[in-house]
Amino acid sequence: MLPKATARCLVQRAFSSFSNATEMGLSEQHTAFQSMVREFAQEELRPIADELDSKKKFPREQVKKMGQLGLMGVEINKDLGGAGLDGLSYTIAMEEISRACGGTGTIMTAHNSIFMGPINKFGTDQQKKKILPNFVTGERVGCFMLSEPGNGSDAGAASTLAVYKDDHYKITGTKAWITNSWESSGGSLFATTDRKAKHKGISCFYIPFPSDGLSLGNKESKMGIRCTSTANVIFDDCQIPSENLIGESGQGFKIAMQILDAGRIPIAAQGVGIAADALQRALDYVMKKPVISQNDEELLAEMEVMVTTARLLTYRAARMKDEGKPIGKIAAMAKLYGSEVATSVSHKAIQLMGEDGLIKGGGVERNYRDARITEIYEGTSEIQKVVIAGHMKKEYRNKYTNGQ
Ligand code: CAA
Repeated sequence: MLPKATARCLVQRAFSSFSNATEMGLSEQHTAFQSMVREFAQEELRPIADELDSKKKFPREQVKKMGQLGLMGVEINKDLGGAGLDGLSYTIAMEEISRACGGTGTIMTAHNSIFMGPINKFGTDQQKKKILPNFVTGERVGCFMLSEPGNGSDAGAASTLAVYKDDHYKITGTKAWITNSWESSGGSLFATTDRKAKHKGISCFYIPFPSDGLSLGNKESKMGIRCTSTANVIFDDCQIPSENLIGESGQGFKIAMQILDAGRIPIAAQGVGIAADALQRALDYVMKKPVISQNDEELLAEMEVMVTTARLLTYRAARMKDEGKPIGKIAAMAKLYGSEVATSVSHKAIQLMGEDGLIKGGGVERNYRDARITEIYEGTSEIQKVVIAGHMKKEYRNKYTNGQ
């Protein structure tokens, strides 16, 4: 842990080099929120990020503090204990947390967007009151269980089965690569209640952890975001009451798609945050060199343009969400670009720093590894292109051929 004075110095420097509030047109309220999250993240997360990574340690105390700051229930209404903030605030927070520690960004977004999202958006008032207040304090986290060993991108092919009997569902099957699984106290599950109906037979459920018949696979040893756990979740005749059905039976695929649409904006912000940290470290490095080469300047300039453009696109997506506009296309665009920027900028930062950039504990090497997942989870880059092109074709048909 860095001494307080050094940590404060880092915060000040982050403020001077990345003070984007005016340039990004943030309101006073959003700027104050950004400063608060940045101060917490730079003082309490960034100094321990390399240790969390090397020890694969879940940042339990820091997640509790994030709960106290409203970051574990950002968009949940105040009457349920949440912060009641908008999507732009969530985006700002994700960038700041991920800039300090990419892995903690993953914990935060899996919990906020895709675990709580289905319950908050599609649950009944009774379900929200019963479940959500337990998950906004930072004491407990949740997970999202959609992918399966045989179908990562083809979400509609879910084969985990939920059979209804006597006011209960019995669940059998395996969910794969589940973020937060080992630390979770609950999860949103997508399972089929009618296999013949394919994606129209998928339903969404709230699953309390632990539950009889639910077990966890081994923790995967990952390239990046190593302070989060990733494992299979195995259901073997796991019985849950029918009141845990979220939304209507058969509505699960559309719930998952809408939740993923919105969830892609904070992943874009995670990419921006990781890239912004790599850029900051590269800039610090270059400014200490006795001679700054033209190549250094070119790389820095390219990185600055990429980070700023990705941030603008991500903010645009968040603002459209807050305005209630359709976000499927813009969210996929922000995620596609933000994740590419994360990998490309952290790659360039290493290139610029040479062998110094490869040293463990130096930050940039971790940025490079943490960035990679942003091109894979919540829909791969290839899936984002399918979504974007799908919207383009639909827009074209609506404009030029009366929807034909
Ligand atoms: N919103 C609402 N409805 C939607 C929708 C959306 N964004 N996208 C599709 N639908 C509806 C369609 O209108 C259609 O409805 P009807 O049947 O009534 O006509 C239905 O869903 C099926 O649509 P498609 O035929 O287009 O669906 P598809 O099977 O071709 O799949 C896909 C589309 C975009 C490829 C989708 O499968 C997808 O997004 N896959 C990626 C899954 C994903 O992101 N997984 C990430 C796992 S979670 C994770 O990574 C978490 C973590 O670790 C932190």
